[in-house]
Amino acid sequence: METETLYERIGGDSAVRKLTDRFYDLVFEHELIARLFKTDKETIREKQRLFLTQFLGGPQLYSEIHGHPMMRARHMPHPITEDDAVAWLQCMAQAVGSLDLDPELKDELFNRFPRTAFFMVNCETDV
Ligand code: HEM
Repeated sequence: METETLYERIGGDSAVRKLTDRFYDLVFEHELIARLFKTDKETIREKQRLFLTQFLGGPQLYSEIHGHPMMRARHMPHPITEDDAVAWLQCMAQAVGSLDLDPELKDELFNRFPRTAFFMVNCETDV
C-alpha cells in the first residue's frame, strides 16, 4: 500500500531490531571505526533502534526519550572522517543485506543512509 511507511514495509519493530543487532556486531569489529565507539554495545544499539524507528517513518521513539535528534551535533564529540562514513555505510550495507527482504526494498532502505552518513563527517582525513 502506498501510504505505508518504509518502517512498516520492511517489517516494523522486528526488522529494525535485526538490522541494529547485525549492524553493531559489524561496527564493533570493524578495524577502522570500532575505535570511535566507547559506550557499551547494548546502549548504543538501543539508541540506534529508537532512532532508526523514527528515521524510517515509525513511532517517534528516540525523540520521546532523548529529545530532538540533532544528530550532527551529537556526533561532534567524535572525530568522523569520510573514510569512517564509508566504513559505516559498508557495515550498514551488510546489515541491510542480511535482512530477508526483496532486493528492491533492500536498495530503498540502504539508500536512506548515504546522505545522512556524509553529513556526519566533521573531521578531515589524515594524509
Ligand atoms: C558517518 C559515520 C558515522 C559514525 C562513524 C558514527 C559514529 C557514532 C559514534 C562514535 C557514536 C557515539 C557512540 C558512543 O556513545 O560510544 C554515535 C552515536 C549515534 N549515531 Fe552515529 N555515526 C555515524 C553515522 C550515523 C548515522 C548515519 C546515523 C543515523 C542514520 C547515526 C546514528 C547515531 C545515533 C542514533 C547515535 C546515538 C546518539 C545518542 O547519543 O543519543 N550515526 N555514532
